[in-house]
Amino acid sequence: MTATLIRNGRVITASDDYTADVLMEDGVVKAIGTQLAVGPDVAVVDATGLYVLPGGVDTHVHMENIVGPTVTCDTFASGTKAAAFGGTTTVVDFALQTPQDSPLEAIARAQRSAEPQVNIDYSLHCIVTRVDKQVLADVRHAQRHEGVTSFKMFMAYPGVMMADDAAIFQMLRQVGADGGMVALHAENGTVIDLLIKEALEAGHTAPRYHASTRPALMEGEATHRGIRLAELAEAPIYFVHVSSNQALKHIVQARDEGIPVFAETCPHYLLFDDSVYDSDDFNIAKYVMTPPLRKPDDQKHLWRALRYDDLQVVATDHCPFCMKEGHRGFFNQKPAGQGDFSKIPNGAPGIETRLVSLYDIGVTQGQLSLNRFVQLTATTPAKLFGLFPKKGTIAVGSDADIVLFNPAVRQTIHAHTLHSHCDYTLLEGRTLQGRVEKVFLRGTLIVDGEQWLGREGMGRFVPRGEVRAF
Ligand code: URP
Ligand code: ZN
Ligand code: ZN
Repeated sequence: MTATLIRNGRVITASDDYTADVLMEDGVVKAIGTQLAVGPDVAVVDATGLYVLPGGVDTHVHMENIVGPTVTCDTFASGTKAAAFGGTTTVVDFALQTPQDSPLEAIARAQRSAEPQVNIDYSLHCIVTRVDKQVLADVRHAQRHEGVTSFKMFMAYPGVMMADDAAIFQMLRQVGADGGMVALHAENGTVIDLLIKEALEAGHTAPRYHASTRPALMEGEATHRGIRLAELAEAPIYFVHVSSNQALKHIVQARDEGIPVFAETCPHYLLFDDSVYDSDDFNIAKYVMTPPLRKPDDQKHLWRALRYDDLQVVATDHCPFCMKEGHRGFFNQKPAGQGDFSKIPNGAPGIETRLVSLYDIGVTQGQLSLNRFVQLTATTPAKLFGLFPKKGTIAVGSDADIVLFNPAVRQTIHAHTLHSHCDYTLLEGRTLQGRVEKVFLRGTLIVDGEQWLGREGMGRFVPRGEVRAF
């Protein structure tokens, strides 16, 4: 049977909110209407009392990503299964250009790993660490022929992934002219490395010093620099994981000036603040992500920006590492930084809790409308990264990636009931309003309550088009 009717749900898109029936056939949305009549061969799912949402689009995730001497603990299989249980049906992961290879080899390598494993649809941003004529030619080829239209660059991690300003400018100029997007990790890497060295020399080795050596001012400085480079290049730019008002104020000003600047924040910056670092306990290594958590005042500004469109996306930056030595065979993950915080792999999990946590703290607490919630978690990421209207909305002809979300129930989050390989969640024990009840990927039911009906390899690589920045 290739057709399913979702009956009588409350359909929420970025712009609409109405009760209707949605008919899915052959992987796409075939019809939307009231009291749609269907034959006996069509499965009918009663969605009375449920929200019918477009499948989430998470454009910042790290599966099987090499980070220093270790690798993120979610495989493409486990990470995409966790995403699905959380109501996300498309992810954009990363293909890392190593010093030895080209962007095209990096993309092909990531696809080889992902293809047999992915449970949901996926794409890749290519991380470009080195720029020369050949790299620029490969980037152009990737954009025109491989469906990879976004490229990530780092202003942090000198000697590892950091690109200099000229390299970033060259990429912005070419990628922007070709209709793509450069996504930037904005922090002043060389100053941060100096602060880390000085902290360690002073005997400040506990995880809390991860936060004090990555000041918001240096996120702001790099954000400003990135904006000016984009302005000169006459290109759009996207800032990943914006955490502070120091960064935000430059984004707001640039947007007011009419510069096409776009940015995301992540649930952890909305849920937690830097008070978690007030301890010498190694357990706070679970909060060692980059940028670090900021002040309550920063959170206030992030919420304002989410409401008024100075931030356009909530993505997870799901970058999981285990806290327990040897969990699932992973050694030297967070504990690698016992005695030296700079050796703690940076990152935290969050892929499965993105929708419900943002629904709970955003929608039920009155910070966001339901439409805005959908816009931030599905529609705008799909538009900015060339996936729309195939992904990110519920419309006739769009992929039938649909989430049935129950706003009336509460759930308590525990790592052991989530589907990531990670041995912790930042939300352990927290009770949240709302639950993902069913998830359809291109019309196929893959999550039904706690039941997994998906299959590794059923996800598809989605070739992406041009950025829709306006
Ligand atoms: O902590 C994070 N965000 N880890 C991923 C790598 C990075 O810094 O972007
Ligand atoms: Zn980053
Ligand atoms: Zn990241």
